[in-house]
Amino acid sequence: MKYHKMVENAQKPNGFWGKMMIRAMNKGHSELTDWALEHVGIQSDFHILDVGCGGGKTVEKLCGMIGGGKVFGIDYSELCVEKSEKLNQKNIMCGKAKISRASVSSLPFQDGSFHLVTAIETYYFWPNKLGDLKEILRVLKRGGKVMLAFEMLKSKEEPDKWKAVEKRLGIKAVSRGEINEILLHAGFQNIRTYIKSGTSWLCAVAEKE
Ligand SMILES: C[S@@+](CC[C@H](N)C(=O)[O-])C[C@H]1O[C@@H](n2cnc3c(N)ncnc32)[C@H](O)[C@@H]1O
Repeated sequence: MKYHKMVENAQKPNGFWGKMMIRAMNKGHSELTDWALEHVGIQSDFHILDVGCGGGKTVEKLCGMIGGGKVFGIDYSELCVEKSEKLNQKNIMCGKAKISRASVSSLPFQDGSFHLVTAIETYYFWPNKLGDLKEILRVLKRGGKVMLAFEMLKSKEEPDKWKAVEKRLGIKAVSRGEINEILLHAGFQNIRTYIKSGTSWLCAVAEKE
């Protein structure tokens, strides 16, 4: 019961169970995020956007990796914006981070704003995946990268692995091939995908020409 209430809040955290879920995600996605970030080179002056920033842990990590750059986080959940701002209070005060309430489908940034866009465990929920990736492409600079991280990778060995969570949330686990294809279709280049052995983690990195 407790588990189900929390899982239902992964999509758009809200209320008591949303708070519980945010706490669990900040902890539970930390290792996946660290591994995925190993696949992108981050420079000190980078401007970075974290889409679906949840409780703000990735924004905090990214702030620790840059110097004069800036990290933006967006999430369409009011509670996530509140919690991300709380966690990143110091980074916000010194102008290093900014959190906004927004949807991935309509990013409140000008064309060519970012060197890197990260999206950890959020893609499954996006309403228009192809259009939303094109929106990310729009806000990237030329040569900028998107990095998508997933822990729900489809498995031939365990076809039912994600069945319960897929049913409960109305989402689908992803395959390496389909992520490659949709990134290509959205207009990205130099697409690389990585799977961490012994896990169901997938990281995809792609560039804007
Ligand atoms: C499973 S949580 C992951 C949060 C965070 N990235 C992490 O790794 O802990 C998914 C997040 O994506 C956000 N999200 C889902 N759909 C979104 C959309 N269309 N636009 C913006 N944020 C969205 C949710 O509110 C939630 O915070």
